[in-house]
Amino acid sequence: MSRIAYVNGQYVPHAEASVHVEDRGYQFADGVYEVCAIADGRLLDETGHLDRLDRSLRELRIDPPVPRTALRIIMRQMIRLNRVRHGIIYLQITRGVAPRDHFFPDSDVPSSLVMTARAVDPVRAAARAEKGIAVLSRPDIRWGRPDIKSVSLLPNILAKQEARDAGCDEAWFIDANGFVTEGGSTNAWIVTTDNQVITRDLGRILAGITRAGIIRAAKGENIPIIERPFSLDDAIGAKEAFISSATAFATPVISIDGQKIGNGKPGQITQRLRAAYMQQAIADAKD
Ligand code: PDD
Repeated sequence: MSRIAYVNGQYVPHAEASVHVEDRGYQFADGVYEVCAIADGRLLDETGHLDRLDRSLRELRIDPPVPRTALRIIMRQMIRLNRVRHGIIYLQITRGVAPRDHFFPDSDVPSSLVMTARAVDPVRAAARAEKGIAVLSRPDIRWGRPDIKSVSLLPNILAKQEARDAGCDEAWFIDANGFVTEGGSTNAWIVTTDNQVITRDLGRILAGITRAGIIRAAKGENIPIIERPFSLDDAIGAKEAFISSATAFATPVISIDGQKIGNGKPGQITQRLRAAYMQQAIADAKD
């Protein structure tokens, strides 16, 4: 079956989908994005992702290319056209196409919108969650606004590739004070030996939508969540650790820098939180 992409008002064959060479996303990474999971043909945490998209656009002073109602229709059309039951939608908005100049273009230049959708094998994803992943710590060399979901991801891709080269699956960024900020494309969590579930407080991290969903789901499970900095040493000495994102949900971390976390197996609290989050996200998903 041929894949379809959405590019500035048109549904086009994925293989032929393209943007102009002077799109500011291409030349300046002047744009933002969202990744939203699809389960059983429905979008998970859609409102959270669209709210964060609005915020990212506002922070960068990019006008939305279409109203939210249209965005929601296009996303659903993409799921249908690509016949995705389980997978992800990728949505990117840039400041549009204009002759290369660092200054913003005139206000009549429309922002660009592209979307892709692809299937992800839920069995493979679940197997990964059952096995757990390995993490490599890397210095957090990102700019001062990681709260904006910008397409400017060079430090993230470099750190993640270094992790892969070391046989790991994700990188955890460490700030100048030795505290974990977040993962290359995920939020970071630990469970201490006295069962405190800790994730970095908002500010110097992306406000993960899955992170927020897990915090909500944890309330229903009577599992208190503490939002505060934790160090790399805290993480290595933790009983459990995990990552969260729209693609990983909650996925256990079983080693950091080659050192076993807990008994080196996915932790019980992590698995409870993953199940509670999934149940909540699926129950909340709208048609
Ligand atoms: N990444 N932190 C970073 C740096 C991220 O890039 C992401 C998401 C998250 C988790 O956010 P959320 O729970 O809203 O997905 C945290 C997406 C999945 C990506 O870049 O592919």
